[in-house]
Amino acid sequence: METQYGFDVVVNRRNTNCGRWDTMDKKYGKSDMIHLGVADMDFKAPEEIRNALHDVLDMGVLGYTDLSDKFFISIQRWYKKQYNMDIPREWIVFCPRINIASSISVETYTEKGDGVIMHTPAYGPLQNAILKNGRRMLASPLKKNGERFEMDFEYMESLVDEHTKMMIMCNPHNPTGRAWTKEELVQAADFCKKHDLILFTDEIHGDLMKAGVKHQTALSVSEDINDRLILASSPTKTFNIPGVIVSYMIIPNEKLRNIIEADIDRIGMHNPTIFAVTAVEKAYTECDDWYEAVKKYIDDNETFTREFFAEHFPEFHIYPREGTYLLWFDYKKTGLNEQQMEEWFLEKANVSVYMGSVFGEAGNGYIRLNIASPRSMLEEAYNRMLKVWKDW
Ligand SMILES: Cc1ncc(COP(=O)(O)O)c(C=O)c1O
Repeated sequence: METQYGFDVVVNRRNTNCGRWDTMDKKYGKSDMIHLGVADMDFKAPEEIRNALHDVLDMGVLGYTDLSDKFFISIQRWYKKQYNMDIPREWIVFCPRINIASSISVETYTEKGDGVIMHTPAYGPLQNAILKNGRRMLASPLKKNGERFEMDFEYMESLVDEHTKMMIMCNPHNPTGRAWTKEELVQAADFCKKHDLILFTDEIHGDLMKAGVKHQTALSVSEDINDRLILASSPTKTFNIPGVIVSYMIIPNEKLRNIIEADIDRIGMHNPTIFAVTAVEKAYTECDDWYEAVKKYIDDNETFTREFFAEHFPEFHIYPREGTYLLWFDYKKTGLNEQQMEEWFLEKANVSVYMGSVFGEAGNGYIRLNIASPRSMLEEAYNRMLKVWKDW
């Protein structure tokens, strides 16, 4: 039982316009379904953040807000503490959301019709950053090497033509949970250099690593890659504050930075919300213990899940999770197709997860399950599933 931070407490998030619970209830026409799909945590954010946001509200005037010195210093502190990296302040560019950062980066650094390489299966909004901006998505399915999903450099080579301008990476990778190693990142960086591609890397899950696995940020790869690197990150996944809406990019190359800053300014996205700056300052400077504890709780949830599935659902294969709080299951051995699998979850068990096809064709035969919930909730979900397993 976890008592210090309340991770075991089930918080009723319904009737709060909650994306994970209310929107999914509406989608499936249910009011008592357990939702393990949307990627936020069911845990309360650290008390330090919540108290500071109370203070913001108590002042009472909810006016326009600007970035503070501490906003930058906090990000610099975090990178120094977690990754032993010194990030020059001027490299940091505020952006409200990573989903905006990815879309605006594609729009800014490529032209309509250009090709952008994307590893699949892939988080939907990263795909949309390419597709909805009228660029060509050059999908490069990750290939399996034993238990590992890996980038297929040979195939990536075959995708490149003179209109290929960018590669988008997700590190650690949503949905497979892979964390790219230094060697893989060096190879990716070399590939981008060889073909003169901008490298956009979404590292929003980078702080949420499994014990024993180190997050390799693309920033640590080589000076070389920094010239063409757009890194996007945020404390929102790490500290479960995505509703605050805040993220940032780290862009070492001044020219690339100036262009995107001008674009952010052009579309009027330069002010953070009144909560954003305070949340980042607190998260990155005063919540280290909560952060260590939440990672441990997630790791233990993984162990619990693996044990449950090994005992009751051996037909499911769970891939190794190196980072994120998402587990990637291969269900092909069950012999069920996606429609049947979904029926089991939604109609029989009353539990929702993300079907793999949400992440594109390469996701067929898989599901993604979010384990960042109180253990009792996972237990109830898995027992619901067990009760009706093969009940047809
Ligand atoms: C890989 C990845 N990038 C970005 C986001 C969303 O980030 P933001 O809320 O800052 O747009 C998510 C959320 O699930 C994600 O998994």
